[in-house]
Amino acid sequence: MHAVLTNLEAASDAVDEVNALKGKIWDLESHFDSSKDKTQFRRYEEACDRVKNFYKEQHAKQTFEFNINARVQFHKNTRARMGIWEAMEKLNTLVDDSDPDTDVSQIEHLLQTAEAIRRDGRPEWMQVVGLVHDLGKLLYLFGSEGQWDVVGDTFVVGCKFSDRIIYPDTFDANPDSKDTIFSTDYGVYQPNCGLENVMLSWGHDEYLYHVLKNQSTLPEEGLAIIRYHSFYPWHREGAYSHLTNTADEKVLAAVRAFNPYDLYSKSDNPVDPEALKPYYSNLIEKYFPEVIEW
Ligand SMILES: [Fe+2]
Ligand SMILES: [Fe+2]
Repeated sequence: MHAVLTNLEAASDAVDEVNALKGKIWDLESHFDSSKDKTQFRRYEEACDRVKNFYKEQHAKQTFEFNINARVQFHKNTRARMGIWEAMEKLNTLVDDSDPDTDVSQIEHLLQTAEAIRRDGRPEWMQVVGLVHDLGKLLYLFGSEGQWDVVGDTFVVGCKFSDRIIYPDTFDANPDSKDTIFSTDYGVYQPNCGLENVMLSWGHDEYLYHVLKNQSTLPEEGLAIIRYHSFYPWHREGAYSHLTNTADEKVLAAVRAFNPYDLYSKSDNPVDPEALKPYYSNLIEKYFPEVIEW
């Protein structure tokens, strides 16, 4: 199991690396990374092959029907009952076999993201969002089909696949691309119906959003960051303006503000989870119940 989970870690990191490389040209307005040598995110060619194969599978399999079924399955039962810190530790045990020289563990990534946000003086709710944003990867423990329904950039299903999604040609293998409704600009949606009313490809973002939307006191922007942090076609490429509305514009700034902390904090100094636990346990208490139904 560990070898498989290490693969998830590798795919997830490779996806982030490619996004980090693509994001270099943006004015990100974060401060913590201003002195960083971003050439360290350099395994582009290697990552590209891995990422391309990953997306080839994901883009073929994330159909409208799959997404309906994923949500039906989600609502059918509770997969686990545990607190936030326990969930972080659980996610961390999954990467025991990963190479410590090249990968940071999940708990490190979560803490590094939160710490970078904290260092930049961002609000507590944003720090705690940094702390939990990838906990949806627990999905991998709860019987996901593979990696393609857990990690990677997300996109809208139920309408034409945007050409601003990474590797757009790989959607040729998705049956929805030939469907008479799903292949149209609006598909099953109304113009400017808002992201609240569209279905995003299933993965750790969407799963965690559904878990936490009624089990936290996070502000709307915090939940939006969790739900849309992998929705690069929208938050970076500006796609889907025919479906979004003014409420989406409001949260877009928060999602964009969060992105560099997710992408660039991986090269920060190592963190000591035990030393940071008191501070973050206090934050967790402010925003989440003691036990969460996953
Ligand atoms: Fe993520
Ligand atoms: Fe992340």
